[in-house]
Amino acid sequence: MKRPLGITVHRQIMDSQSLHNEATGELSGLLTELIVAAKTISAEVNMAGLADALGVSGKTNIQGEEVQKLDEFSNNTIKRRMAQSGYICVMTSEEEDGIIPVQEGCEGKYTLAFDPLDGSSNIDVNVSIGTIFSIHRRISSSGQGDIDDLLQPGNELVAAGYMIYGSSTMLVYSTGEGVHGFTLDPSVGEFFLSHESIRVPEESKYFSVNEGNYNYWKPEMRSYVDYLKTIDEASGRPYSARYIGSLVADFHRNLIVGGIFLYPCDSKNPEKPYGKLRLLYEASPMAFLAEQAGGLALTDDGTRILDIKPTTLHERVPLVIGSRKEVERAEQFLNG
Ligand code: AHG
Ligand code: MN
Ligand code: MN
Repeated sequence: MKRPLGITVHRQIMDSQSLHNEATGELSGLLTELIVAAKTISAEVNMAGLADALGVSGKTNIQGEEVQKLDEFSNNTIKRRMAQSGYICVMTSEEEDGIIPVQEGCEGKYTLAFDPLDGSSNIDVNVSIGTIFSIHRRISSSGQGDIDDLLQPGNELVAAGYMIYGSSTMLVYSTGEGVHGFTLDPSVGEFFLSHESIRVPEESKYFSVNEGNYNYWKPEMRSYVDYLKTIDEASGRPYSARYIGSLVADFHRNLIVGGIFLYPCDSKNPEKPYGKLRLLYEASPMAFLAEQAGGLALTDDGTRILDIKPTTLHERVPLVIGSRKEVERAEQFLNG
């Protein structure tokens, strides 16, 4: 359904709900609560330099990573709001070891997995960062949810999306009916439709990967990136390299102008043989959006990200995502 630009995200959510007779409004309520959390985080991010919110909190998370103050603020903002929302039965966050229960008596029919602040290494240098979320239906029948409610494959996702706190704050999400982008007008505190039915361009001349890891990659991965950098003007090579270091920002560029983003396996850290990105709240939600927008998301051995059944909350997967034809070409190099 073509929507006029400038409608609010709430209008989009309610219109989408009205298309489903069985809808009870809980998913709409869940998204609305997440949007309030997003506005709170956006305000904090935009003031971070002044409000002494920059820097590290002195703690480390389950990933063994130094928790930045904004990571903690974002995590607490989402956790507290969603625990009492009444729409979810259990949560998991990149910043927490185990499952996060909801407030007694507030158990709902969905689950939430989220990366409260993605791109932490960019917080203190004023580069775009974001929040990533994914929503499943619960499997257990009632009461507090459990880890099995969370360990579901991306092909069972009900909704997924991200907020990007960049030159403007945007919300990009899908409930399975295409991908839509909303831009926050901070003067009125509303998200307005700015990118309706986003489609990933089938081809593009951008590649996005941390080449600092080049010598840790398997030979096929090195061959693929060498191919993209070879001079062959008839086929539009070399491609342009773009790497921001925030998955949300690198993925957003791919979504809008096309390209390929890769975070492959590398031999750099024996404890992380499958690369750095987490399945539940980074690779899976982005894969859902990529496919909803006509793109493709695989691991570097050709497995469709959305078909992977998670076995632990924070498991990592290699990610090759973006313009369909480019991901298919990469696949030929990696597993031809
Ligand atoms: P997070 O800040 O949530 O830990 O995520 C950071 C991730 C992701 O945003 C980005 O694509 C990747 O780390 C960058 O990793 P490198 O610095 O190793 O390239
Ligand atoms: Mn992240
Ligand atoms: Mn994070």
